[in-house]
Amino acid sequence: MVTEHASASAATAAAKPDQNSLTCYFQGGYVRLGEARIPLMTHAFLYGTAVFEGIRAYWNAEEKQLYGLRIRDHIVRLRNSCKIMLMADVPSVEDFTEIVKQVLRRNEFHEDAYCRPSVYKSTEAIGVKLHGLTHDLYVLAVPMGDYIDTEKGIPTGTVSWRRVSDTAIPARSKITGSYVNPAFSKSEAMLNGYDEAIVLTQDGHVAEGSAENLFMVRDGVLITPPVSDDILEGITRAGVFEIAKHLDIPIKERSIDRTELYIADEVFLCGTGAQVSPVASVDHRAVGDGRVGPISKQISKTYFDAVRGRSGAFRHWITPIYTSD
Ligand SMILES: Cc1ncc(COP(=O)(O)O)c(C=O)c1O
Repeated sequence: MVTEHASASAATAAAKPDQNSLTCYFQGGYVRLGEARIPLMTHAFLYGTAVFEGIRAYWNAEEKQLYGLRIRDHIVRLRNSCKIMLMADVPSVEDFTEIVKQVLRRNEFHEDAYCRPSVYKSTEAIGVKLHGLTHDLYVLAVPMGDYIDTEKGIPTGTVSWRRVSDTAIPARSKITGSYVNPAFSKSEAMLNGYDEAIVLTQDGHVAEGSAENLFMVRDGVLITPPVSDDILEGITRAGVFEIAKHLDIPIKERSIDRTELYIADEVFLCGTGAQVSPVASVDHRAVGDGRVGPISKQISKTYFDAVRGRSGAFRHWITPIYTSD
């Protein structure tokens, strides 16, 4: 096995979990993660024809409770991705949500975790197409802490790769094969010394980070690209809209030019993995005075209180995993 640029990749690679101590849902049952194997000829492996979600679960030590974050919303988006990829007959939102909860529960996590449900084209055949293929699903979960810094502000850089356009691969669905695009962006940014990428659309507007939606603040107004600018329709992004409403911060969807980021008062990235991550600089220009700005701080505090179950206003986002039912 050869690892290119080992030092840079080590920074992003999560520690490899012990697969024999983790339980996943695979081919209709709950099995050890290490025992879940797919044949080499599986269509999804050959052509990237799977869809997936990344769901976080947060450990609340005082309550000794694990909270699944917005499980239902992720399952709704996953089912939408299935529809786009011509995968019918997937479990209902209720049944799928129950499997996710079961996987988290059976792993008995007492720490933050990440859960990945996926529906994949399971036919074992050569042939590039979407129709006339079978599909199956799995749900796995592993322990996971922060993905990128969430406190001090990160350096970012615009990359030369463009965000995959909806006219090429649907940007609003999480298709495994399409993640080669953010992988190019993330690696270019990191190998150039940044923590994250700023990715532009084909026509040069700001789309998002490599796996995060983007917000900027100008004159007290939160601004984010519209869903028609080749972004993933982020669940955290929708959460930021809710938080902004709760905090009475004006918010607007419109296209953003790259150089607006250079003169913005604040910029932050958000996503299930990234959470809320303030941006300290873009292309070597400090955002504001380079320190985390007041609106980013407010959004971030409200977000982290919400996900750990410390906020009554956002209780509807979370699902307790350890229940007696
Ligand atoms: C390309 C991309 N954009 C944005 C996001 C943020 O989306 P969400 O908040 O739903 O996790 C993600 C993460 O899932 C992503 O992969």
